[in-house]
Amino acid sequence: MKDRIYFYPIWVRSWHAINALMFLVLIFTGFSIQYATTSVSWIRFDRAVVVHDIAGLILTFNYLIFLFGNILSDNGRFYRFTLKGGLNRLIQQFHFYTMGIFKGAPYPFPINKYRKFNPLQKLTYLLSMYLGIPLMIITGLTLYFPAVFNLIGLTSLVISDLIHILLGYFLSIFMVIHVYFCTIGHTVTSNFKSMLNGWHELH
Ligand code: HEM
Repeated sequence: MKDRIYFYPIWVRSWHAINALMFLVLIFTGFSIQYATTSVSWIRFDRAVVVHDIAGLILTFNYLIFLFGNILSDNGRFYRFTLKGGLNRLIQQFHFYTMGIFKGAPYPFPINKYRKFNPLQKLTYLLSMYLGIPLMIITGLTLYFPAVFNLIGLTSLVISDLIHILLGYFLSIFMVIHVYFCTIGHTVTSNFKSMLNGWHELH
């Protein structure tokens, strides 16, 4: 029997599945809203707005599962990024992805029960989950409750909108890169299997 680690408890898998699904819905409806006056608008504006709002609210509540799950369980420790030597570790991992991997070099940061993510993975997950998504939620809420936030002034809403749209693009790009890197596991599908059954196989 191969060694394996139970890295993805059911709450991580459920959060992740809802998050990924809502992301796809938000991208689809977000695009339709943004390009409502052009042929890129895939669904009717009013419908796109309602679905976008509902998906945004589901993603927001779902984010609380991620946040509190990480606070209350062991999973949060995998997101701790130590600044000392951090740049060096990122460069080492970058070298591996751009050179080492093609020469069959060993993984610079092999996965074990104390290390679930490599340094590049850790930094991108940290930035998207603890900076990108919270900012996306906050700016989304300002647009959903304009009367409340308009007290600060109309310009604040324009800035919110701009940040919301730019982040939408950044996080969409993150998602594409993320899915691509998930294919660079032991086999092309092994990371996806882990996200389905919870177990990471060690090789
Ligand atoms: C269709 C879309 C997606 C697919 C197929 C996918 C796939 C995966 C897979 C296979 C893993 C396990 C490998 C690993 O730990 O790196 C993973 C983990 C993860 N994904 Fe995704 N993902 C998707 C969308 C997203 C989105 C939109 C986000 C956030 C904005 C996200 C954030 C994460 C995070 C933070 C983890 C690590 C969770 C943990 O173990 O604590 N994913 N994803």
